[in-house]
Amino acid sequence: MENFVVSARKYRPSDFKSVVGQQHITTTLKNAIKNDHLAQAFLFCGPRGVGKTTCARILAKTINCENRTADFEACDQCDSCLSFKANSSFNVHELDAASNNSVDDIRNLVDQVRYAPQKGKFKVYIIDEVHMLSNQAFNAFLKTLEEPPKYAIFILATTEKHKIIPTILSRCQIFDFNRIQIADITEHLKYIAQKEAIAYEEEALRLIATKADGALRDALSIFDLIVTFSDGNKLTYQETINNLHILDYDYYFKVTDALLEESISAALLIFDEILKKGFDAHNFLVGLAEHFRELMVCKDPATLHLLQVSESAKQRYKEQSEKASLSFLLTALNMANHADFSYRTSKNQRLHVELLLMKLANLPSAISLAALAQDEAKKKV
Ligand SMILES: Nc1ncnc2c1ncn2[C@@H]1O[C@H](COP(=O)(O)OP(=O)(O)OP(=O)(O)O)[C@@H](O)[C@H]1O
Ligand SMILES: [Mg+2]
Ligand SMILES: [Zn+2]
Repeated sequence: MENFVVSARKYRPSDFKSVVGQQHITTTLKNAIKNDHLAQAFLFCGPRGVGKTTCARILAKTINCENRTADFEACDQCDSCLSFKANSSFNVHELDAASNNSVDDIRNLVDQVRYAPQKGKFKVYIIDEVHMLSNQAFNAFLKTLEEPPKYAIFILATTEKHKIIPTILSRCQIFDFNRIQIADITEHLKYIAQKEAIAYEEEALRLIATKADGALRDALSIFDLIVTFSDGNKLTYQETINNLHILDYDYYFKVTDALLEESISAALLIFDEILKKGFDAHNFLVGLAEHFRELMVCKDPATLHLLQVSESAKQRYKEQSEKASLSFLLTALNMANHADFSYRTSKNQRLHVELLLMKLANLPSAISLAALAQDEAKKKV
């Protein structure tokens, strides 16, 4: 336990090819290096924990590498790469604008920029959370950004692009980082679990990936947490839902079965069980709507790839989706969505969800009645 390093740090990618889910960015950066066509100012935008700082560091290392590979990656062996690895490179400077946002901080930085690098070709300045700079600081920075010495490269990173003033935006090459897909996060977790020799159930990893909501760093932190809880044995689905206090998706299948069988009582009892376990009714509502959505995309092979669940769960979704008609799913999705909107304002929230379940349980007959009426009307014409 002594040497425990959190996975997010231990597995920070050190070259472009190991960055997950941001190929549009890493490819462009590599091409720029290849063609010697590097911008001097970059703006990396995107949600937290998706690789902005990581890519900035890789770029800094790669452009200073003395012996790049044929694939335009850093060699990891030359003096420059080694000093990067040891965090002792003088060619990369990181400033966290969240805590250093005054004019003086920026002036210091601007002063440093004047000195050419003693070794290597480029000095790279990474300014994290750049939207936190004060207006004055921004202004002090503009001139340098406009006419930087040719060895200086600025990488500004932010999670809030809309807060960056247009004069800065127009001086930077902008890269928008993606939220990372659940499937990609799951794959990455698998890779790490294998490296760490941790046995796992795929469902568990997928659940962590879902919970991380697109942020790989969050996924890794949750992963560490659950590994610690599970005594280093096996990472199971059951243990993960218990630790994360996530509602087992089994419940959504059961409720939907009850609704399709028009059993109000069964649906209400399942909902009661969920509440008794301490789950929030609103979360259940949102989860139910998502469940209907998954069933909906199963209906058409064209949209099947939009299903965000694990391979092993896919079959189950397909089977349930075959039992439900398209009209049922569409109406149910619509009603669940409305109930979600009005949830906060309802006085009796339990009843609010129960009422939805009762209406949904009535839906199959309502739909067949409507179809019948339509047939009758057609006959009369
Ligand atoms: N695209 C990615 N591929 C692989 N690992 C990633 C990726 N994004 C994040 N990580 C993991 O998460 C950690 C944090 O990533 P990083 O510092 O690059 O995020 P960031 O986008 O700068 O986030 P923030 O906005 O919070 O500064 C990394 O050390 C790495 O382990
Ligand atoms: Mg960062
Ligand atoms: Zn090198």
